[in-house]
Amino acid sequence: MLRIFSNMMTVIMLGVMLGFTLGSGGAYAHKDATGIVKTRMDGFKQSQQNFKDLIRAAHGNDYDTVRTLSVSLTEWGQQMQQHFPAGSNQPPSEAADTIWSDASGFAKAIDDYINATQDITAAAIAADKPAIMAGIKSTSDSCTSCHNVYRVK
Ligand code: HEC
Repeated sequence: MLRIFSNMMTVIMLGVMLGFTLGSGGAYAHKDATGIVKTRMDGFKQSQQNFKDLIRAAHGNDYDTVRTLSVSLTEWGQQMQQHFPAGSNQPPSEAADTIWSDASGFAKAIDDYINATQDITAAAIAADKPAIMAGIKSTSDSCTSCHNVYRVK
């Protein structure tokens, strides 16, 4: 019980963090974006919304919805690389040069994210709530650690 409670607190905290930190700046940056930069910003925005909805569904023990959303988060991860062609960091992009100068590190950050979202899917199929919560935590960590190195704020 205590463990479930503390997991829930973690997830509530994550929801708050996602709303305020990842969400800020996005709408502003969006305004003048065009082409591939706009496409990927929209993709990240959508993934943020999907992740929020997934957290809500996990609270509500709606494992089917959790699975549908974790699969779409995985699919976004599989497409992420192709949204960063060389030299596509023109304003208002927040993409850091390290995406191209450290391409293998960026690829690994994508892999970590994909693996974390796949852990959620496996946990949702097993209807294993603590594992879903753990997968949400590692997915959130993978967003943050990629942003720390590969996104300029
Ligand atoms: C492998 C790296 C990586 C991962 C993983 C990642 N992001 Fe990002 N994210 C980026 C980069 C790079 C940008 C900046 C793109 C740009 O501005 O061109 C970005 C931008 C964003 C934006 C701003 C979009 C806008 O409108 O400007 C949001 C919101 C976002 N990410 C949310 C998330 C969330 C939520 C997750 C995890 C579920 C996540 N990201 C995972 C690299 C990543």
